[in-house]
Amino acid sequence: MLTKTAPGPWGLPLSGHIMHFHRDVLRLLLQSVAKYGDVVRFRLGPHVVHLVNHPDHAAHVLHGNHQNYDRATRSVASIRRICGESLLTTSGEIWRRQRRLVQPAFHQRVIANFAVTITDAAAALLDGAWREAARTGATLDASAHISRLALVIAGRALFGAEVSDADAAQIDRALGVILHQTFRRLGRIIDPPLWLPTRENRALLGAIAAVDGIVERILARRHAQGQAGGGSDLLALLLQARDPETGDTLSDQQLRNETVTLLLAGHETTATAIQWTLLLLAQNPAVAFRLRQELDAVLGDRIPKFDDLARLPFLNAVLNESLRLYPPIWIIERRAIDDDTIGGYRIPAGSSVVVCPFTLHRHPASWQQPEAFQPERFLNRQVNERNAYLPFGSGPHTCVGVHFALLEARLIVAMICQGFTLHLAGDTPPVQPDPGITLRLRSGLHLRLKENTGRHGSPQEHR
Ligand code: HEM
Repeated sequence: MLTKTAPGPWGLPLSGHIMHFHRDVLRLLLQSVAKYGDVVRFRLGPHVVHLVNHPDHAAHVLHGNHQNYDRATRSVASIRRICGESLLTTSGEIWRRQRRLVQPAFHQRVIANFAVTITDAAAALLDGAWREAARTGATLDASAHISRLALVIAGRALFGAEVSDADAAQIDRALGVILHQTFRRLGRIIDPPLWLPTRENRALLGAIAAVDGIVERILARRHAQGQAGGGSDLLALLLQARDPETGDTLSDQQLRNETVTLLLAGHETTATAIQWTLLLLAQNPAVAFRLRQELDAVLGDRIPKFDDLARLPFLNAVLNESLRLYPPIWIIERRAIDDDTIGGYRIPAGSSVVVCPFTLHRHPASWQQPEAFQPERFLNRQVNERNAYLPFGSGPHTCVGVHFALLEARLIVAMICQGFTLHLAGDTPPVQPDPGITLRLRSGLHLRLKENTGRHGSPQEHR
């Protein structure tokens, strides 16, 4: 069959579209799909990248023809320097074996046990610093609080009580450096090797060593206590995990790689999802009011439990809609192993193919008024209908932590909205998405809080 080269914007002879990617990549991608359609070709220096933006094309790459798309990409190579060979960085048989070992620890039945870990950590924060900020009227740096909270929860879920607050603060800082640097390096035509003694390399290596130090100390203590150490955290489950086909267990190196991966993949993604949801609620008082009515009716003043979540459909819809507008993993990259054809266009072997949930979730054929925050659209729609909605990916590499992430985000958002009415601090600039490894809020989220007393009051109180 005769196939064509996909269309795309004009780029500079050597660097291609690198400058545009740096300047405002989200705008470039949105404008390009509007102008060129569902398959767009870009050049980043010598690398050819195809953005595929139709639900069927996304399903083809991530699911239907996934055998032809592996993770031998620059983004994964840079993550491998931190996580080593792990769920996030491998493909084929090595990945399949790791997934078989790790997946049972993330079964919904197991994850339900972490509801109390999550609500305990959230209650400590909300009853302390947040109530105090509401009382004094001080502006709260909600992004910093949520980020640290998500890390404390990830640490306790993975390692039980063995992560001290000082460890959590150190991991939080180190992961911040790792994520920031990893993304910056991807934007360069040539990424300086890590052995060069540059300031950036030293900072990155220092951050990796800080995380490694904490993880290795915990692993050593567990081994000294004998296998799982009697714990019921994720590490205990990983230590006991047996491959159902071969009976193999995870080696020490694999345990280190998987735990660092879970910290990296699970912490900032969930924190970012919660931050975007709080922003959208602060910007949309009528939605916040409706949510509070639901929370009041189902929970009253009590702390939510796992079983409550099935009775909170509007909370669920709010989270889904927030993940649609601001998917924390806004881009998913693969490499074509052999030539392929997508939407009538040639995808040459060796080129990169990206699915971008940020643009896919705004595809006008799938979503009416795609820029509007309308949680109701999820009340009567299957969430991943026709592959138009992929915040957790699709196919064999679908997020292993999806149940954990949704449990954590729903419980925390519910508790915040039970306790407080959210207002954006007046002196902060309009919030913009800041695409890095995750889709952060540029300049963070600064809130003023009003403590909710008694029942939900009137819609005016939410203004
Ligand atoms: C709102 C929060 C989260 C979002 C939006 C998210 C999103 C995603 C997406 C889109 C993928 C697919 C990547 C690909 O196809 O290459 C993925 C994979 C993954 N996620 Fe998540 N994630 C979240 C939370 C978590 C949590 C809490 C954990 C673990 C504690 C986690 C662990 C992983 C791992 C290990 C993978 C790789 C899976 C594989 O390839 O087998 N994620 N995530």
